[in-house]
Amino acid sequence: MSDDSRDNRINAPVARQQEIYMGGLGGRRPAVPVDMAALETAAARRMSREGHAYIAGGAGREDTMARNLDAFGEWRIVPRMLRDVSQRDTSVTLFGRRLPSPLLLSPVGVLEMAHAQADLAVARAAAAEGVPYIFSNQASVPMETCAAAMDDAPRWFQLYWSKSDELVESLVARAEACGCEAIVVTLDTTLLGWRTRDLDLAYLPFLRGMGIAQYTSDPVFLRMLDQPLPEGAGDSRPPVNLHTIRAVLQAARNFPDGFWPSLTSGRALAAVRRFIATYSRPSLTWNDLAFLRERTRLPILLKGILDPADAARAVDHGVDGLIVSNHGGRQVDGSVSTLEQLPRIAEAVAEQIPIVMDSGIRGGADMFKALALGATAVGIGRPYCYGLAAGGEDGVREVIGNLKTDFELTMALAGCKSVAEITRERLVPAG
Ligand code: FNR
Repeated sequence: MSDDSRDNRINAPVARQQEIYMGGLGGRRPAVPVDMAALETAAARRMSREGHAYIAGGAGREDTMARNLDAFGEWRIVPRMLRDVSQRDTSVTLFGRRLPSPLLLSPVGVLEMAHAQADLAVARAAAAEGVPYIFSNQASVPMETCAAAMDDAPRWFQLYWSKSDELVESLVARAEACGCEAIVVTLDTTLLGWRTRDLDLAYLPFLRGMGIAQYTSDPVFLRMLDQPLPEGAGDSRPPVNLHTIRAVLQAARNFPDGFWPSLTSGRALAAVRRFIATYSRPSLTWNDLAFLRERTRLPILLKGILDPADAARAVDHGVDGLIVSNHGGRQVDGSVSTLEQLPRIAEAVAEQIPIVMDSGIRGGADMFKALALGATAVGIGRPYCYGLAAGGEDGVREVIGNLKTDFELTMALAGCKSVAEITRERLVPAG
């Protein structure tokens, strides 16, 4: 290829910019805002107050949530010049799968609060963009339905280790059967964090039968509905009034048997009670991981790792990957940000297994900095939820496309032709 034709090749990021600017000549603006703050505002307008609080909120004073974002400001990119960045490669390989960009969609529960098509819209958008989608254990749509809409596009399954081993086994087997390529065990939510916004609205979506579709589509879970609840579980009962009746009706609408049968059989409410009694296991320890290893050949990743000692221990336990995450600041308020822990964790892992990092990624520069500090790839949570709320499936595609483009431009303008060239030398501490 001559130098001229190489420079004139219309490449993806330039084409995306052109499309937006050309659209502007015709009076058209992007379908959902490019700017993240504006995107959240657009999303908030489309969501209920409770929905926005659930997605946007964090634990306690939301100090960790803020820190997740601020930590990126403590590193500055130092671009290099005259390096011929006309040809670029943003791909990375994770567990044998080549991905177009070092970007994943982290698991987010109860997406029906953002949009009626919920996980299904996200699955379609992720598949169209070739970005792996990690199905949440708290999804609003069963994993099989999402997988069926994704052809052979990459998806992983996120597991909350419930009190029932049989249920864990069943969820993992279903994930394998519907083509998930990895199991992500989320460790940071064995109890629900103190989520101020939700508490002030006294609103927990699961109590209304939302976000429990992986359970109500599971044969083991459904069998559990016929068994008595453990002693003490389901003891607390709400007052009976119009609000409670509305919540019961909503739970019945969400149960797969159909509205009337679910209501009259009492199974919708039984499912909510069973879920509350079963969903998490605070007693989980390192020894339990062997149970999972024996039951799946898929790579196992641990999500929620923040201490280098835990990272090293994960490697010793034969874990296949880590997701350095603080759940988007929704669990331990005052905890460290993921970016500040990343270099120490990368050092402990010494490239033996891949590291995905999430919590606070909002743009291409954030992606670049995370990769420079040791991440193999990054995950996003809230940004795609806001895309979903603001524009459904197309909105999610926009958010993914914008982020991929922003990252590619940052990489190129910093003088890097490939992800491998994004090294620690490209950053300096701020100030
Ligand atoms: C989450 N997250 C999450 N994680 C997980 O393992 N299982 C889940 O079901 C959920 N659910 C969930 C709901 C909502 C509304 C949010 C915002 C987050 C955490 C998620 O996977 C990810 O770690 C964070 O969202 C990353 O932070 P950012 O990108 O939102 O800042």
